[in-house]
Amino acid sequence: MKALLLAGGKGTRLKPLTNYLPKPMVPILGKPLLERTILNLIECGFAEIIISVCYQPREIDRYFGDGSKLGVKIRYVREDIPLGTGGAIKNAESYIDSTFAVLNSDIVTQINLQELMDYHRKMKGIATIALTSVKNPTQYGIVELNDGYISIFKEKPKPHEVTSNLINAGIYVFEPEIFKYISADQVVSVERNTFPLLLSSKMKIAGYTDMHYWMDIGTPEKYIQAHNDILNNTELFSKMLKTSVFYGNIFHNNSVRHGYKSRVIGPAYIGNNVDIGTKAVIGPYAVLSDNVKIGSGSRISNSIVWDNVEVGKTTNIANTIIGSNCKIDNTAEICDSIFVNDIAGPVAI
Ligand code: GDD
Ligand code: MG
Repeated sequence: MKALLLAGGKGTRLKPLTNYLPKPMVPILGKPLLERTILNLIECGFAEIIISVCYQPREIDRYFGDGSKLGVKIRYVREDIPLGTGGAIKNAESYIDSTFAVLNSDIVTQINLQELMDYHRKMKGIATIALTSVKNPTQYGIVELNDGYISIFKEKPKPHEVTSNLINAGIYVFEPEIFKYISADQVVSVERNTFPLLLSSKMKIAGYTDMHYWMDIGTPEKYIQAHNDILNNTELFSKMLKTSVFYGNIFHNNSVRHGYKSRVIGPAYIGNNVDIGTKAVIGPYAVLSDNVKIGSGSRISNSIVWDNVEVGKTTNIANTIIGSNCKIDNTAEICDSIFVNDIAGPVAI
């Protein structure tokens, strides 16, 4: 089975986190989201993965290479100019000859892709779209379902056009016949062009609603929310990390040094080679990725710290995302901010 990952978007709404990193490489509990998605695909029996890249492609292929480290075959399809989600799918045509899955790469989910494939076969449509429901669907593609099949697909509806809370989860199964409905070498949106075209051509698109956890990390707020949801849900937390070794609601790797009288208040995640200074307090809702050093007396709560970060002494960091390779001065008070290793300085969330 083959899966195509759409990983060419710019990630504009996640800036400045995506200034130097493509959105699919943004870490979730210390590991790129794309890697977590690929691990889930492997677990569900996918043997070949095609990654459609455009923006900052080298960051992605440098990390994953040919996939041999993860035990899967990875190929890349590259666009020089963004061709949209449909154009990216059309570009992968020469690698695909049977039923295949397509996934947006900014989604944190524990969907069972095997079940989705089985459902697709049972429903016998040209496509199956995984669906989820959200409170405010205007930033998504809304659908209406009729007897398990999609009757309406409307991308980014205006508030007065919202007729349903069911949305496209950005996870699809397609028959190769789909390629006939996408023009080559053109910008095509699968959501705005292809799905409406399929519906007006009376092709069957099934809707799969058996979604477990789902969240897109399109904005910093949702990125933080996805972490908090994982930290709050031990089952999801252990599935994400593929381990069940926890200390209450705290996960930490073995190579963590806890200074005298330092404390970790769960829920929290602590990566490899982390140094927590004397009397420092980590958590609740703290994620420290690999190679992080926290100075003595510092407090970190409701925050996500990426790798190779050094935080000085007696700082107070709340509701903040700190990007890779940052150095935070002693006594800094930072809240509701995104901090990246950039001359521009922190940005408010
Ligand atoms: N290769 C390539 N080329 N990939 C692209 C391009 C492109 O031109 N444009 C977007 N992508 C990738 C992005 O990297 C992302 O993984 C995926 O396609 C969807 O793009 P987003 O920019 O994240 O779209 P969205 O969040 O506004 O909406 C999409 O996702 C929602 C669910 O999160 C749509 O599919 C909605 O219908 C859906 O509800
Ligand atoms: Mg998105």
